[in-house]
Amino acid sequence: MILQYLLYLDCKSWLVGIFLLLLLIDIFKNKCPPSFPPGPRPLPFLGNIFTGLDFKTIDKLAEEYGDVFSLRWGSERTVFISGYKMVKEALLTQLDSFADRPIVPLFHKIFKGLGVALSSGYLWKMQRKFANIHLRQFGEAKKKFEQSIQQENVFLREAFKEETGPFDPQFYLNNAVSNIISAVVFGRRFEYHNERFLTILHLDSEAILLAGSVRAQLYNAFPQLFDYLPGPHQKIFNNYGKIVEFIKDEIKKHIEDFDPSNPQDFIDAYLLEMEKKQSDPEAGFNIETLVVATLDMFEAGTETSATTIRWGLVFMMKYPEIQEKVQEEIDRVIGHSRQPSMADKPSMPYTEAVVHEIQRVGNAVPLGFPKKASKDTMLGGFFIPKGTTIITNLSSVLNDKNEWETPSTFNPGHFLDEQGQFRKRDAFLPFSAGKRVCLGEQLARMELFLFFTFLLQNFTFSPAPGEELSLEGQLGFTYAPIPYRMCVTPR
Ligand code: HEM
Repeated sequence: MILQYLLYLDCKSWLVGIFLLLLLIDIFKNKCPPSFPPGPRPLPFLGNIFTGLDFKTIDKLAEEYGDVFSLRWGSERTVFISGYKMVKEALLTQLDSFADRPIVPLFHKIFKGLGVALSSGYLWKMQRKFANIHLRQFGEAKKKFEQSIQQENVFLREAFKEETGPFDPQFYLNNAVSNIISAVVFGRRFEYHNERFLTILHLDSEAILLAGSVRAQLYNAFPQLFDYLPGPHQKIFNNYGKIVEFIKDEIKKHIEDFDPSNPQDFIDAYLLEMEKKQSDPEAGFNIETLVVATLDMFEAGTETSATTIRWGLVFMMKYPEIQEKVQEEIDRVIGHSRQPSMADKPSMPYTEAVVHEIQRVGNAVPLGFPKKASKDTMLGGFFIPKGTTIITNLSSVLNDKNEWETPSTFNPGHFLDEQGQFRKRDAFLPFSAGKRVCLGEQLARMELFLFFTFLLQNFTFSPAPGEELSLEGQLGFTYAPIPYRMCVTPR
């Protein structure tokens, strides 16, 4: 009887019926578990794909839905965690709850869940432990890093001096910062006019910027569909493809010259570890992971620090009185006859406070890297099931009204006590916290202090005539200053 009735239905009724059936399946499939964090109502099938995933939109939604809320993209739910109190609870108090990474299709295609930054479980533990040990070893308890930054400073000063008019410092800074991690990973630095390396740096910056675009993020919701469509995701894959080729060439040269009795850098040490770990394939020490691990260190160690230094120069140009105060401290403590060293830091509370404030306001990695609940977890009274993607809004911590006296003002006083001495602040979490805390934090802190202090020791920075510097940044995977041109006056 029902079959007979269905046979007599016209095409329109069939379509309506199929739509209603799919709608029911969608509602059933995407039903939230009890006590799941609230969020804006998702559209059928699509979810909240018209909601931007930039930190400013996330801040606004947190005001409306609270410090723990959720969004759905396609069928994928993500929980956003905001404010110092809740981020601390998620990353530090519940240390083991969010230690894994989710599969983010845009990045999975390149990083494949291997290496350090986007891997999980046992492989991540082993890769992170190895990277940690060797980062220290090749930095030889920090001394070698310090020397390598000081050496790079000299190259940077010469390059800046050669510029006769206004110029954009972006790729000098990217190259200089990248040379520090390149010395550890590849065993060498790259000249600022090395065309191939410059191309790699450009491709990398472009991919990082594009990764923040709404259209590239659409790929994460519907990867099978977008795989066949043009768009920024294709450019990102193409750029990373070329970066991978560059890294493979470097690894190939290392294999040809490999001397197991004398490992020179991270890649050599990794090749040695591959031999030692043959009986433990789960640890992932193989060429494929080496390519990704190298990409991790190179990627994570370049754009973040260089972007922060670029923000630093923007703030110094916007607030010349602060620039002057830093220079006054540099002149008093270091003078002009030698380079700044890490030993100077304790005697330079104002400069240290400025560097911290640059990181706080610059906000280079506003949403951190996504994580995944490794077990069923309660957070802020909400239930987060195992496997849910979570994003910690680090920007909301660095701007938390309950933690900072004047969150939206560039104010080095945030890091100074009444006697003018440097004071640490709990809500200073630009490197995140907990088990996945930035692996390069110590190196990055050294880079920021030594590069910044040296630059201000040697130059006074001012904007290019007629150019208005913006304090608004451009959002990609990182939050970076809008490209600018500046003038340098030697001191
Ligand atoms: C100012 C500079 C830097 C900032 C602001 C920064 C920030 C971050 C942040 C927010 C994360 C994500 C942590 C999380 O998931 O909770 C991260 C991860 C990471 N960073 Fe950095 N970073 C900087 C420099 C560096 C440098 C110089 C290196 C070089 C080795 C590096 C290597 C890494 C790695 C390998 C990870 C992944 C760690 C893991 O997943 O276990 N970073 N960083």
